Amino acid sequence: MEKDIFILAVESSCDETSVSVIKNGTEILSNIVSSQIESHKRFGGVVPEVASRHHVENITMVFEEALSVANVNWDNIDAIAVTEGPGLIGSLLIGINAAKALAFVHDIPLVGVHHIAGHIYANQLVEPLQFPLLALVVSGGHTELVHMKDHYQFEVIGETLDDAVGEAYDKVARTLNLPYPGGPHIDRLAAMGKDTYKLPRVWLDKDSYDFSFSGLKSAVINTVHNAKQRGEEIIPENLAASFQASVVEVLVEKTMRAARKFNVKQIIVAGGVSANKGLRHGLEQAVEQEGQFKLTIPPLSLCTDNAAMIGAAGTVAYLKGHRSKMEMNGQSGMDLYSL
Ligand code: KG4
Ligand code: ZN
Repeated sequence: MEKDIFILAVESSCDETSVSVIKNGTEILSNIVSSQIESHKRFGGVVPEVASRHHVENITMVFEEALSVANVNWDNIDAIAVTEGPGLIGSLLIGINAAKALAFVHDIPLVGVHHIAGHIYANQLVEPLQFPLLALVVSGGHTELVHMKDHYQFEVIGETLDDAVGEAYDKVARTLNLPYPGGPHIDRLAAMGKDTYKLPRVWLDKDSYDFSFSGLKSAVINTVHNAKQRGEEIIPENLAASFQASVVEVLVEKTMRAARKFNVKQIIVAGGVSANKGLRHGLEQAVEQEGQFKLTIPPLSLCTDNAAMIGAAGTVAYLKGHRSKMEMNGQSGMDLYSL
C-alpha cells in the first residue's frame, strides 16, 4: 500500500488567517479559518495594514489549533504548502514566513501555491477532478475561465478586462449602503426581487471568453443617482436582482460556450463568488439542459478563502516534485503557472 501524504497548508493572502491539514490531497483533517471581516467592515473594505496585524496576532494560534484538531504531529507532515501570491503583500508575508520558519525547524519541504490554483483545487475536496475540465474562477480579485487538460495544467482562456466579479458585487453593494463584503447581501436581496431594471449584458466579441463588469457596475450606480435626482425611490431588491441577472447570464453563457468548444467532461466553479445562489442555480439549470457535463461546486465553506484548498493544490504540486526555496518571497501580482 502506498504511504499516506499529509500536507500542512497555510493561507493568508487577504483577510482570512487559515491553516489546514490535508490527507492525500482529498481529505480534510482540519481547516481552521480565522476571519477578520468584523474589523474591516467599518472601513467598507480590507485595510492592508490592519489585515497584516491581525495575521500576526492570529497565526500561531491557528497553527496550533489546526494540528491539534487534525491530531497529527510534526513527524507525520510531509510538506508545508503556503499561498505565495497573488494577494496583499503584507498579509502573504506573514503566512510565508511562518511556513518557512516551520519548514526549516522541522526540516520538511516547502511548497508555494498560487491562490487561484487553490480555489480550483477546492473542488478536489468534493470529488475527483475529471479532465479535460473547465474552471470558472470568480472571486474578489479574479474572473477567469481556465481550461485544464490534466492536473496542474492551467490554460487561461478568458479573463476580466476590468473589475473582477466579486469587486463589482462589493461596489454595487456599497452604492446600496450594504455592509462589506457586499456579495452575500446582494445575493440575499436578489432572491427577494425581480429583474425589472434594464441593465446591460456585456458580451464583448462574439467568440471572446473575456469579461467586463465595470460598465454594468456604472449602470447600477447611474440608476441610483438618476433616481435620487428625480426624487424617485429605488427598489433595492429589484436592483440587486437585475444586477445579479446580468452577471449570471453572462457568466453562465460564456462558461457553457467554452465547455462545448473545449469538449470538457467537468465544469467546476471556484472562488468566493461561487457561493452565489443565483450563479449556482443558473449553472445547474444550464448543465441539466445540456446534459453532457458534470458540474461541481464546492460547499460554501470551501468557496471563500481557506487553507484546505491550498493543501489540496499543494499535495498535487508536492507529488509533481514542486519545491520552493527558503528565498521564496510573497508576490502580490502573480500569473497562474502550470507544473
Ligand atoms: O475568493 P474570496 O474569498 O477572496 C478573494 O480571493 O478575492 O472572494 C471574496 C469575494 C467578495 O467580493 C465577496 O463579496 C464575494 O466573494 N462573495 C459573493 C458571495 N459570497 C462571497 N459574491 C456574490 N454572492 C455571494 N453569495
Ligand atoms: Zn480567494
